[in-house]
Amino acid sequence: MTLHTSWTPASWRNLTALQQPAYPDQRALADVQHELSRLPPLVTSSEIIALKKQIALAQEGKSFLLQGGDCAENFSDCESGMISNRLKVLLQMSLVLVHGLRMPVVRVGRFAGQYAKPRSADMETKDGLTLPSYRGDFINGPDFTEAARIPDPRRMVKGHARSAMTMNFVRSLIDGGFADLHHPEYWDLGWVSQSPQSEQYRKLVQSVGDAIRFMETISGEQAHNVNRTEFYTSHEALLLPYEEAVTRQVPRQTGWFNLSTHYPWIGMRTAQLDGAHVEYFRGIVNPIGVKISAGVTDEQIKQLCDRLNPDNEPGRLTLIHRLGASHVETQLPRLIRAVQSAGARVLWVCDPMHGNTESTSNGYKTRRFGNIKSELEQSCDVHAAEGSHLGGVHLELTGENVTECLGGARDLIETDLERAYLSSVDPRMNYEQSLEIAMSIVHKHRSLA
Ligand code: PEP
Ligand code: CO
Repeated sequence: MTLHTSWTPASWRNLTALQQPAYPDQRALADVQHELSRLPPLVTSSEIIALKKQIALAQEGKSFLLQGGDCAENFSDCESGMISNRLKVLLQMSLVLVHGLRMPVVRVGRFAGQYAKPRSADMETKDGLTLPSYRGDFINGPDFTEAARIPDPRRMVKGHARSAMTMNFVRSLIDGGFADLHHPEYWDLGWVSQSPQSEQYRKLVQSVGDAIRFMETISGEQAHNVNRTEFYTSHEALLLPYEEAVTRQVPRQTGWFNLSTHYPWIGMRTAQLDGAHVEYFRGIVNPIGVKISAGVTDEQIKQLCDRLNPDNEPGRLTLIHRLGASHVETQLPRLIRAVQSAGARVLWVCDPMHGNTESTSNGYKTRRFGNIKSELEQSCDVHAAEGSHLGGVHLELTGENVTECLGGARDLIETDLERAYLSSVDPRMNYEQSLEIAMSIVHKHRSLA
């Protein structure tokens, strides 16, 4: 097919691009793209290449990927407390995983650019008024007014700046020693001492601290890599005019880099083989992810691997399956076999969130902790049985004390959802549920080993 021979950052425009807003003013859109294309990048090509090497190690089972954050970031949540709390939870989870799995953890935030959302309908009607659906802060506002809902390209510039501020703060915290394993007490969230997991976590922190001090005493020097933790960013690269504008060539490197994030992924709704998103992604150098749902056929998954990673390059391609707890056992084996039969090198990651969304009788979109945990555990088992391995997790979580997912150690029930349901899109695990999931991954891993 000739379409697949010449790639440019704009060649996606020749194909069908689903889930894009209808901008009323094309001139304003082009101006914004021009402005974005000149702004300094948010990440560097060397960081992107370093991450790809780490993902290659995870593919070999030598490290584990932890990817997590909000379903959607909001401009109003670009605030120091929210950002540092989310970082704290991810750091605590990674400590549990490093210690329990006895291998390095690649830490990737779903942040600094997670501002565009796919929606099931283009329009929304309320009390006889029909307006465009809210598609994330990159595109329009959540209020149900015409002014808020008309897509505004200037929001991309604002989102880019918010992403830069988020990254800047995360980088400064880390450079300042926030992620130092000598001081896990920095990551304590105020109300955590009440948590059912706090005792187990505290013991673990104690034993990690002892192990580090022991190593340093024996060797007479500071433990390597302990005081500086790397953090990478990711988002669903849904809004193609934005992604196109931040795609550049870099001196002394070959190829085109998306310099707005380290690790973009293609969402389930836009993973069509002949679609614009696959076309855009095939041409960038970044490590990339693709969400895989139960509807993907064996042939499609093989072709996705071939299209997105024709040279079978290590670290390039991650498949994030999000099948739902009741479909893993029946669907995952065939998907793994299809990829194996193609000889494709991938990192398998489980997103146990998006296949387990349901609505409660009191009108909340939620997920049951039991289903999230079960999908993860079943995924580990299926990979092991198929001679493969689960190399990471992709989670929706927050450092805030929300009540959005049911169950967990505190056994949240439907009426609890009313208390602190803050998500504007999908339900996230709160701090305790997130830490419990990290511990359950360790238990599962140990039982398999
Ligand atoms: C998401 O990750 O928020 C999302 C929309 O997931 P999926 O594409 O898997 O449905
Ligand atoms: Co989501």
